[in-house]
Amino acid sequence: MSKVLLTSVFRPVYPTPAALVTSAAADGTPNIIVLGECFNISIGLEGPVVVGLAIAPGRYSYGLIKEAGEFGVNFPTADLVEVVDRCGSVSGRKVGNKFAHVGLTPYPATKIKAPLIVECPVNLECKLLDIIKAGDHDLFRGEVVAQHVDARCLDAEGNIAITSLNPLCYILGQYWSTGRHLGHHGFTRGK
Ligand SMILES: Cc1cc2nc3c(=O)[nH]c(=O)nc-3n(C[C@H](O)[C@H](O)[C@H](O)COP(=O)(O)O)c2cc1C
Repeated sequence: MSKVLLTSVFRPVYPTPAALVTSAAADGTPNIIVLGECFNISIGLEGPVVVGLAIAPGRYSYGLIKEAGEFGVNFPTADLVEVVDRCGSVSGRKVGNKFAHVGLTPYPATKIKAPLIVECPVNLECKLLDIIKAGDHDLFRGEVVAQHVDARCLDAEGNIAITSLNPLCYILGQYWSTGRHLGHHGFTRGK
Protein backbone atom coordinates (compact mmCIF):
# COMPACT_ATOMS: atom_id res chain seq x y z
CA MET A 1 0.00 0.00 0.00
CA SER A 2 1.36 3.42 -0.89
CA LYS A 3 0.91 6.27 1.62
CA VAL A 4 1.18 10.01 0.96
CA LEU A 5 2.59 12.34 3.62
CA LEU A 6 0.24 15.34 3.76
CA THR A 7 1.78 18.80 3.83
CA SER A 8 -0.89 20.28 6.13
CA VAL A 9 -3.09 18.78 8.85
CA PHE A 10 -6.80 19.74 9.08
CA ARG A 11 -9.11 18.41 11.82
CA PRO A 12 -7.24 15.06 11.90
CA VAL A 13 -9.62 13.22 14.26
CA TYR A 14 -12.90 12.00 12.75
CA PRO A 15 -15.81 11.37 12.92
CA THR A 16 -16.88 13.39 15.92
CA PRO A 17 -20.38 14.09 17.25
CA ALA A 18 -21.73 17.59 16.76
CA ALA A 19 -22.92 19.00 20.08
CA LEU A 20 -25.08 21.97 21.07
CA VAL A 21 -23.66 23.30 24.31
CA THR A 22 -26.00 25.43 26.37
CA SER A 23 -25.14 28.08 28.93
CA ALA A 24 -26.86 30.97 30.68
CA ALA A 25 -25.84 34.57 31.34
CA ALA A 26 -26.08 36.02 34.88
CA ASP A 27 -29.51 37.50 34.00
CA GLY A 28 -30.72 34.06 32.89
CA THR A 29 -30.58 34.63 29.12
CA PRO A 30 -29.65 31.28 27.60
CA ASN A 31 -27.11 30.70 24.85
CA ILE A 32 -26.12 27.84 22.54
CA ILE A 33 -22.74 27.16 20.92
CA VAL A 34 -22.29 24.53 18.21
CA LEU A 35 -19.22 22.35 18.68
CA GLY A 36 -17.86 19.93 16.12
CA GLU A 37 -17.04 17.55 18.93
CA CYS A 38 -17.60 16.57 22.52
CA PHE A 39 -15.65 13.60 23.82
CA ASN A 40 -15.58 11.14 26.70
CA ILE A 41 -12.56 11.65 28.99
CA SER A 42 -13.45 9.50 32.00
CA ILE A 43 -16.27 6.95 31.87
CA GLY A 44 -16.99 6.59 35.58
CA LEU A 45 -15.22 3.30 36.37
CA GLU A 46 -13.15 5.27 38.88
CA GLY A 47 -14.58 8.63 39.95
CA PRO A 48 -16.96 10.83 38.00
CA VAL A 49 -17.97 10.70 34.36
CA VAL A 50 -16.03 13.49 32.63
CA VAL A 51 -16.46 14.93 29.14
CA GLY A 52 -14.33 17.38 27.19
CA LEU A 53 -15.07 20.31 24.88
CA ALA A 54 -12.77 22.56 22.85
CA ILE A 55 -13.91 26.20 22.85
CA ALA A 56 -12.11 29.19 21.32
CA PRO A 57 -11.53 32.06 23.79
CA GLY A 58 -13.36 34.60 21.58
CA ARG A 59 -16.72 32.78 21.73
CA TYR A 60 -19.45 34.40 23.83
CA SER A 61 -20.14 30.98 25.37
CA TYR A 62 -16.54 30.73 26.62
CA GLY A 63 -17.08 33.49 29.19
CA LEU A 64 -20.64 32.40 30.06
CA ILE A 65 -19.52 28.84 30.91
CA LYS A 66 -16.43 30.06 32.77
CA GLU A 67 -18.54 32.49 34.86
CA ALA A 68 -21.37 30.06 35.64
CA GLY A 69 -19.12 27.01 36.14
CA GLU A 70 -21.60 24.76 34.36
CA PHE A 71 -23.01 23.88 30.95
CA GLY A 72 -25.41 21.57 29.13
CA VAL A 73 -24.48 19.23 26.26
CA ASN A 74 -27.23 18.34 23.79
CA PHE A 75 -26.67 15.89 20.93
CA PRO A 76 -28.62 16.84 17.77
CA THR A 77 -30.05 14.34 15.31
CA ALA A 78 -28.89 14.49 11.69
CA ASP A 79 -32.21 15.99 10.59
CA LEU A 80 -31.44 19.09 12.69
CA VAL A 81 -28.47 19.90 10.44
CA GLU A 82 -29.87 23.20 9.13
CA VAL A 83 -30.71 24.49 12.61
CA VAL A 84 -27.28 23.42 13.83
CA ASP A 85 -25.52 25.22 11.01
CA ARG A 86 -27.57 28.37 11.59
CA CYS A 87 -26.90 28.21 15.32
CA GLY A 88 -23.14 27.88 14.72
CA SER A 89 -23.05 30.84 12.37
CA VAL A 90 -24.22 33.56 14.78
CA SER A 91 -23.07 34.68 18.21
CA GLY A 92 -25.40 35.10 21.16
CA ARG A 93 -23.42 38.28 21.80
CA LYS A 94 -25.16 39.77 18.72
CA VAL A 95 -28.54 38.00 18.51
CA GLY A 96 -29.40 37.65 22.22
CA ASN A 97 -31.47 34.55 23.03
CA LYS A 98 -30.24 32.00 20.46
CA PHE A 99 -33.06 29.55 21.29
CA ALA A 100 -35.53 32.11 19.98
CA HIS A 101 -33.24 33.07 17.10
CA VAL A 102 -32.94 29.53 15.67
CA GLY A 103 -36.29 28.12 16.89
CA LEU A 104 -35.12 25.52 19.42
CA THR A 105 -37.13 24.75 22.56
CA PRO A 106 -35.57 25.08 26.03
CA TYR A 107 -36.49 22.90 28.98
CA PRO A 108 -35.21 23.22 32.55
CA ALA A 109 -32.26 21.18 33.76
CA THR A 110 -32.27 19.75 37.27
CA LYS A 111 -28.79 20.67 38.55
CA ILE A 112 -27.62 23.57 36.38
CA LYS A 113 -29.17 26.94 35.48
CA ALA A 114 -28.64 26.61 31.71
CA PRO A 115 -31.61 25.07 29.91
CA LEU A 116 -31.41 21.90 27.83
CA ILE A 117 -32.79 21.44 24.30
CA VAL A 118 -36.06 19.51 23.77
CA GLU A 119 -35.31 18.67 20.11
CA CYS A 120 -32.06 16.81 21.05
CA PRO A 121 -32.73 13.22 22.23
CA VAL A 122 -29.85 13.07 24.73
CA ASN A 123 -28.90 15.88 27.10
CA LEU A 124 -26.16 16.14 29.73
CA GLU A 125 -25.90 18.49 32.70
CA CYS A 126 -22.26 19.26 33.49
CA LYS A 127 -20.32 21.08 36.20
CA LEU A 128 -17.15 22.70 34.90
CA LEU A 129 -14.04 21.10 36.42
CA ASP A 130 -11.37 23.25 34.77
CA ILE A 131 -10.26 25.01 31.61
CA ILE A 132 -6.92 23.95 30.23
CA LYS A 133 -5.03 26.23 27.81
CA ALA A 134 -4.51 24.18 24.69
CA GLY A 135 -3.88 26.42 21.65
CA ASP A 136 -6.43 28.18 19.42
CA HIS A 137 -9.15 26.41 21.47
CA ASP A 138 -9.07 25.63 25.19
CA LEU A 139 -10.07 22.32 26.75
CA PHE A 140 -13.13 22.50 29.06
CA ARG A 141 -13.47 19.45 31.28
CA GLY A 142 -16.93 18.91 32.76
CA GLU A 143 -18.31 16.38 35.22
CA VAL A 144 -21.61 14.91 34.03
CA VAL A 145 -24.05 15.30 36.94
CA ALA A 146 -27.23 14.27 35.10
CA GLN A 147 -28.24 12.68 31.80
CA HIS A 148 -31.66 12.93 30.13
CA VAL A 149 -32.92 10.75 27.29
CA ASP A 150 -36.16 11.02 25.30
CA ALA A 151 -38.45 8.21 26.47
CA ARG A 152 -38.96 7.17 22.84
CA CYS A 153 -35.19 6.50 22.58
CA LEU A 154 -35.27 3.79 25.26
CA ASP A 155 -35.85 0.12 24.47
CA ALA A 156 -38.01 -2.28 26.50
CA GLU A 157 -35.12 -2.91 28.95
CA GLY A 158 -34.63 0.81 29.55
CA ASN A 159 -31.37 0.99 27.56
CA ILE A 160 -30.69 3.71 25.00
CA ALA A 161 -31.79 2.37 21.61
CA ILE A 162 -28.84 3.35 19.43
CA THR A 163 -30.86 3.14 16.21
CA SER A 164 -33.11 5.92 17.51
CA LEU A 165 -30.31 8.45 18.07
CA ASN A 166 -29.44 9.34 14.45
CA PRO A 167 -26.45 11.46 15.58
CA LEU A 168 -25.11 14.33 13.50
CA CYS A 169 -21.42 13.68 12.81
CA TYR A 170 -18.70 16.10 11.81
CA ILE A 171 -15.95 14.90 9.45
CA LEU A 172 -13.27 17.21 7.99
CA GLY A 173 -15.58 20.21 8.32
CA GLN A 174 -18.57 18.40 6.76
CA TYR A 175 -21.85 17.15 8.25
CA TRP A 176 -22.59 13.42 7.96
CA SER A 177 -25.00 10.91 9.43
CA THR A 178 -23.98 7.43 10.61
CA GLY A 179 -24.25 4.15 8.70
CA ARG A 180 -25.05 0.64 9.85
CA HIS A 181 -24.41 -1.44 12.99
CA LEU A 182 -21.25 -3.62 12.75
CA GLY A 183 -21.00 -5.33 16.16
CA HIS A 184 -20.71 -4.65 19.89
CA HIS A 185 -17.57 -3.89 21.93
CA GLY A 186 -15.82 -7.23 22.46
CA PHE A 187 -17.73 -9.20 19.81
CA THR A 188 -14.48 -10.90 18.68
CA ARG A 189 -13.71 -12.31 22.16
CA GLY A 190 -13.71 -16.10 22.14
CA LYS A 191 -13.85 -16.29 18.34
C1 LIG B 1 -20.29 22.56 12.73
C2 LIG B 1 -19.64 23.59 13.62
C3 LIG B 1 -18.67 23.20 14.53
C4 LIG B 1 -18.09 24.14 15.38
N1 LIG B 1 -17.16 23.71 16.30
C5 LIG B 1 -16.66 24.60 17.20
C6 LIG B 1 -15.79 24.15 18.25
O1 LIG B 1 -15.53 22.94 18.41
N2 LIG B 1 -15.31 25.08 19.10
C7 LIG B 1 -15.62 26.42 19.01
O2 LIG B 1 -15.14 27.22 19.82
N3 LIG B 1 -16.46 26.86 18.03
C8 LIG B 1 -16.98 25.99 17.14
N4 LIG B 1 -17.85 26.41 16.16
C9 LIG B 1 -18.15 27.84 16.03
C10 LIG B 1 -19.22 28.33 17.02
O3 LIG B 1 -20.32 27.47 17.08
C11 LIG B 1 -19.72 29.71 16.55
O4 LIG B 1 -18.63 30.61 16.53
C12 LIG B 1 -20.83 30.26 17.40
O5 LIG B 1 -21.40 31.32 16.71
C13 LIG B 1 -20.37 30.73 18.76
O6 LIG B 1 -21.49 31.18 19.46
P1 LIG B 1 -21.39 32.14 20.73
O7 LIG B 1 -20.48 33.30 20.34
O8 LIG B 1 -22.81 32.59 20.96
O9 LIG B 1 -20.82 31.36 21.83
C14 LIG B 1 -18.45 25.51 15.30
C15 LIG B 1 -19.44 25.90 14.38
C16 LIG B 1 -20.03 24.95 13.55
C17 LIG B 1 -21.10 25.39 12.57
